[in-house]
Amino acid sequence: MTPPPTHHAIAIDGPAASGKSTLARELARRLGLVMVNSGAMYRAVTWAAINRGIDPADAPAVVRMLDSLEITCGSDGSSSTILIDGRHPGDEALRAEAVNSAVSTVAAIPEVRERLVALQRDYLARTSVVMEGRDIGSVVFPDTPFKIYVTADEAVRAKRRRAMGEIDSVSTRDAADSKRKTAPLVVAPGAAVLDNSAHTIESGVQAAIDILKQQGWNQPVEP
Ligand code: DC
Repeated sequence: MTPPPTHHAIAIDGPAASGKSTLARELARRLGLVMVNSGAMYRAVTWAAINRGIDPADAPAVVRMLDSLEITCGSDGSSSTILIDGRHPGDEALRAEAVNSAVSTVAAIPEVRERLVALQRDYLARTSVVMEGRDIGSVVFPDTPFKIYVTADEAVRAKRRRAMGEIDSVSTRDAADSKRKTAPLVVAPGAAVLDNSAHTIESGVQAAIDILKQQGWNQPVEP
């Protein structure tokens, strides 16, 4: 009998604008895995609430909305995709200022997390993933041996956001994400910390690959 396929999860967590998305994307390419952006899921639910005129701070109303929300997570072969009621909100909408300032509030609602964590875990039944977020190593895939916590100096992170043309209070969002009761941003047990402040994309990816090999990664790595 053929053994079931073994799928791997690589967890990449860290604060906003630490460079973890770029790192995760490039890592997924080099390792031939699907990159899953879990932040986009929290952004999509926040976008849906705003679109329906729901106050993101009104948790019971957001939870009621969830019951009637169709969330479809998939992949285009290399990256995750998300549809809300059958349509993609669009990257620009997901990164709008209104979403930036409300997403931490929505992400703190336990029922929102429960629904999205289940969808995140579903990926592993289908494919191997590099998943980036805040609680991937601590809550979503606590048993994976492959965990990296990416960090960078506050000044480096603020500069990175400005360069991306976003007006986003990175430090306010990080404080909210770190202090919330459910699944706060933490260095997960077993995670290696990668300080990305002084890395180029290439050297950061190489450092991450070195860490993964130390954690037992023995699958092929593309140049
Ligand atoms: O990665 P990002 O900046 O796009 O994430 C947006 C917000 O979503 C972030 O401020 C907190 C929340 N988030 C979360 O709570 N848990 C995750 N796994 C990913 C994101």
